[in-house]
Amino acid sequence: MSYPITRMRRLRRSEALRRMVRETRLSRDDLVLPLFVVEGRGVREPVASMPGVHRLSVDTLVTECKEVRDVGIPAVILFGIPAEKDAIGTGADHGEGVVQRAVEAVKAAEPELCVITDVCLCEYTDHGHCGIVDGGDVANDTSLERLAATALSHARAGADVVAPSDMMDGRVAAIRRTLDDFAFQDVAILSYAAKFASAFYGPFRDAAESTPQFGDRRSYQMDPPNAREALREMRLDLEEGADALMVKPAIHYLDLLARARAELDVPLAAYHVSGEYAMLKAAAERGWIDGERAMHETLVSIKRAGADLILTYAAREVAAQLG
Ligand code: PBG
Repeated sequence: MSYPITRMRRLRRSEALRRMVRETRLSRDDLVLPLFVVEGRGVREPVASMPGVHRLSVDTLVTECKEVRDVGIPAVILFGIPAEKDAIGTGADHGEGVVQRAVEAVKAAEPELCVITDVCLCEYTDHGHCGIVDGGDVANDTSLERLAATALSHARAGADVVAPSDMMDGRVAAIRRTLDDFAFQDVAILSYAAKFASAFYGPFRDAAESTPQFGDRRSYQMDPPNAREALREMRLDLEEGADALMVKPAIHYLDLLARARAELDVPLAAYHVSGEYAMLKAAAERGWIDGERAMHETLVSIKRAGADLILTYAAREVAAQLG
């Protein structure tokens, strides 16, 4: 049956009708807010390339997390920015490190808020790579120990979920084994399974001071043109014990979210990364797009493609708009 019997416009005529047939709805439950934590007290330092995003000290982070919970967002993901860096990222698994203290403080103040931690060495190494550098190369197997130790320190601090973002082979298995050995079998792993060597991480690296001091991340993060390989990465991480998988960045990789949704029966997360956020903010600031609508449309499209969880710097403003 086609036109004139069928008229697709009939169900678009009013907002009531559109609401009734709407297939995808963004909810607060979908959102995870990334937060950057730095040393000091009373710090709330704006990140120039990410309007609305701040670097927070532990005390201001706790206040922020109260507000996050008040607007109904279920989870935050924390990134630590230490005062000092060295070749092996000693700060990453320090029991009294900035992110470990942040996790403890947030869980003490807001026990119901889900605290996810990013597990990576790049914020803690002076060379800015995500693993241990050996002979000019990022050494996979020696990095695993450091990553597992980092995840363990986050679990000890009270993290509910650890999220390895380094892209070393075997990190999920190494982390799972270590967590289980130390009786943290209930701490979940959200693996950044399909993480691409993307141009869209620029503003994050300003915020986290994690730009590689030599070379780039293409020997460990994925090559953007590769989709089959991404599915393989995701399956491998599931075999290694990941509880949920992430695709990152989000909007240029929606095809992968859709494929993963069709082929894999696990929760999927998408990271709407710093560059994706910054582009929308910059265009909106110039009055070139309606920022609020564009942000909503972007996040809805990520959900429509198949994401259960959306990590976005816009989580708070979007949650507030959801009414
Ligand atoms: C750490 C990490 C990065 C991001 C999340 N975890 C940076 C990178 O890989 O260079 C990027 C997040 C963003 O751009 O918003 N490895």
